Amino acid sequence: MNIEYSHKEAFVFKKIAAAAAEIGVPAYIIGGFVRDKILGRPTKDADIVCVGDGIALAHAVAKRFQPEPTVAFFKHFGTAQIKIDDWEIEFVGARKESYRHESRNPEVEPGTIEDDQNRRDFTINAMAISLNQADYGTLIDPFNGLVDLSNKLIQTPLDPLTTFSDDPLRMMRAIRFASQLQFTIAPVTLQAIQDNAHRIKIITQERITDEFNKILLSKKPSVGLDLLYKTGLMKLIFPAMVDLAGAEYIDGHGHKDNFYHTLQVVDNIAPTTNDLWLRWAALLHDIGKPATKRFENGHGWTFHGHEVVGGRMVPKIFTKWRLSLHEPMRFVRKMVELHLRPISLTKENITDSAIRRLLFDAGEDIENLMLLCEADITSKNKQKVKRYLENFELVRQRLKEVEEKDKIRNWQPPITGELIMEVFGLPPSKPVGDLKTRIREAILDGIISNDYDAAYQYMLEQAASMGLEKRN
Ligand code: CTP
Repeated sequence: MNIEYSHKEAFVFKKIAAAAAEIGVPAYIIGGFVRDKILGRPTKDADIVCVGDGIALAHAVAKRFQPEPTVAFFKHFGTAQIKIDDWEIEFVGARKESYRHESRNPEVEPGTIEDDQNRRDFTINAMAISLNQADYGTLIDPFNGLVDLSNKLIQTPLDPLTTFSDDPLRMMRAIRFASQLQFTIAPVTLQAIQDNAHRIKIITQERITDEFNKILLSKKPSVGLDLLYKTGLMKLIFPAMVDLAGAEYIDGHGHKDNFYHTLQVVDNIAPTTNDLWLRWAALLHDIGKPATKRFENGHGWTFHGHEVVGGRMVPKIFTKWRLSLHEPMRFVRKMVELHLRPISLTKENITDSAIRRLLFDAGEDIENLMLLCEADITSKNKQKVKRYLENFELVRQRLKEVEEKDKIRNWQPPITGELIMEVFGLPPSKPVGDLKTRIREAILDGIISNDYDAAYQYMLEQAASMGLEKRN
């Protein structure tokens, strides 16, 4: 196996090899770095496993660099880390029992390199490259990970029951790798995931979220999302998504399966953005549909208000998933709430004021909203898709024209609440808000022009009609 290292990698691995020889511990590169190198994917951090004390090896390695990097170590877990520029290198001693990174009970026996490989998650992640003098650079691949890489297959080195009971998060990792690498999960491994899905309950939300986000960020997220669904994991980690699944029929009227529609929307948006939150928005855009579903005689199925109900669900979902509650939550909620608005603007005779309103409500996020709406077209009829896309193109043009004319996107109305309070001698109160809203609405509707004098005049008129008197 001829693996091409960069200059830096070759230089650092030689130093690790020399340090390992010096303190007499055999050392190996292992795991994701080896897998990604062979696949020709960009590599991230490197994991080094040694038959001995990983922390001692890290110290011996650090001494060989000028300036000497700091060794961050966790005695309890027997792991250490050094950073060479931005590159993180992790050191750990080979273990015999389970490979449990975050276990509360990491008292595992030291073992050989084979013991350590046995306890890794998948054959493609269990390959090691020797850093030892006798066989420097040799690939040690006891489970034919190389063959599985070329067959694009994910399977566990041992009986999957053993591998998954060591760490049930590995069930999600299998699905994450299937989605990221576009690999297949071996039938026995897949069956074991189905049988043991319930064990995901013992895993912390943070670790689940981390894997889920990686699935969402993969090239074709539907691969992973569908596997989560079919193995029963989705029902356990995200029941609201599963509520979208299925189509109901009454009097021969059915509706589309909103789960598979959603997966298609996420796939559609994937080539246009690597922004995690826009992908979350695609995932959640119809999340309010099950709660709003009605069958109306003469109309068929309706989901009135699903964007409002869905928007309200976003903060709860973000809390449960331990996602950021600030800017990303606000953004995703806004996308869910507004996702039907551009469609309503594809009708004929749309006024400037309707366009202005959308610009005002979407603000800086207007482009992302348009991307979401375009991704939301999942018809199988090519003619229809073409027509819908053309309609959205017209909306984009109108948005551009109105924005150029009115600059409404980042607009703040010219009359502030402070000014209203000052002019009418009011404390912060409802009439102040009402008056502000009236002025803003009049500008958005084009009743008055967007300038201070017109707005001031309008304020005086409206205030008079509300019985407010100007302070002298
Ligand atoms: N590993 C494992 N079981 C886990 C997590 C990790 O056996 N639950 C092992 C695998 O050998 C894996 C290595 O630890 O390759 C490093 O784990 P990690 O850095 O989480 O994943 P990578 O495989 O490096 O992949 P990525 O960087 O894409 O997360």
